[in-house]
Amino acid sequence: MTSTIKISALVGFAAAGLCLAATAVAAGADVALLSDAKRVFAPLPASPSATSAQAELGRRLFFENRVSADGNISCSHCHLPEKQGADGLPKSFGVLGKLNPRNAPTIFNAALQFKAHWRGDRESIEDQAEKSPTGAVSFGNPDFATVIAKLKSIPGYTEAFAKAFPGEADPVTQKNWGKALGAYERTLPQPTRFDAFLNGDAKALTPAEQEGLRKFVDVGCAGCHNGVGLGGTAFSKFGVVEDYWKQTGSKDPDKGRADVTKNDADLYVFKVPSLRNVAKTGPYFHDGSVGELPQAVRVMAKVQLGANLSDKDVAAITAFLGALTQPVPAHYSALTPFPDEPAKK
Ligand code: HEC
Ligand code: HEC
Repeated sequence: MTSTIKISALVGFAAAGLCLAATAVAAGADVALLSDAKRVFAPLPASPSATSAQAELGRRLFFENRVSADGNISCSHCHLPEKQGADGLPKSFGVLGKLNPRNAPTIFNAALQFKAHWRGDRESIEDQAEKSPTGAVSFGNPDFATVIAKLKSIPGYTEAFAKAFPGEADPVTQKNWGKALGAYERTLPQPTRFDAFLNGDAKALTPAEQEGLRKFVDVGCAGCHNGVGLGGTAFSKFGVVEDYWKQTGSKDPDKGRADVTKNDADLYVFKVPSLRNVAKTGPYFHDGSVGELPQAVRVMAKVQLGANLSDKDVAAITAFLGALTQPVPAHYSALTPFPDEPAKK
């Protein structure tokens, strides 16, 4: 660690040439931070085009409420453009006002993670999409045949599926519903200022954000929240050092992955979530039990690392997390109706 700093300070001096020594040291610190950051994180690769036939179909389906049991629920009901792809609630409400057991994460990070859902009980975003329409507390359909019948009754969908999946005799299927939504979701991640920093623009982060990044790495957050998503690469127990509910105040603690695998070793284990967009996606944790980001940072340090962060460190890390907010893409919005389609209610 120390040697990295010394070497990069020298690089800084050399590069700064005739500039004041103080500026050169600051530039050296940037270089050290950048090289440390590059070791644990990765910049966002370019997202695929939103105008492919599959992505366009997925976009339509994402904002389509007519296939839900009560005609009111679309994916966007709980993954809202004005809420950075989340819904701003501790727990979501689905069909007929039914309460979901967990908090809705932003859709923007979904494509970047190794599994979907807090407990990792969906293998991929396609798997997740295939199962949503028959979820009792989301869309509430009895089976997928009902979904297909509804899609076929809306003029335009049969043609749109045929265009997205050419050569298939009967393309309106559960698999293709999943593929189309997955194709759309993969277009949603957009670069942030942190990506610009990782790509070499040291000034893309303010000094306060750089200090927060340094803390985030040195305190140990990046031990779990790493890679391109700053999370989404592994499972971890929530409450490594002490029971999480003592700090979050969660009533009726969720057993996490243990309820999925029926294995006691998975008690209170959850997916390490991606922290992209986190400044805009409160309330926090799988149960939305913590309202504000600084408090979520404090809780994490305490229960995962046994560290009591100072207010200054919490503020710095919170500032850094703010640099992970992406713009809401223009194509995160409903397409205009099909030409022959009656206007939506
Ligand atoms: C009623 C609200 C609701 C609706 C409707 C809904 N979602 Fe979600 N979504 C959630 C909640 C809650 C979770 C977290 C579930 C869990 O982890 O147990 C979630 C999780 C996800 C995830 C995983 C994100 C991650 O970071 O792990 C994806 C992907 C997703 N939803 C996509 C969709 C798609 C596609 C649709 C439409 C087919 C949809 N959702 C409809 C509430 C909703
Ligand atoms: C040992 C692994 C581990 C470490 C270390 C860790 N985290 Fe986490 N983090 C997790 C897990 C697991 C969750 C999901 C908890 C849950 O079930 O809600 C999480 C959730 C979060 C959330 C809430 C995200 C959301 O969308 O609600 C934030 C913010 C966060 N971590 C920040 C941090 C910070 C800052 C640090 C360092 C002080 C840190 N984490 C250290 C594993 C870790």
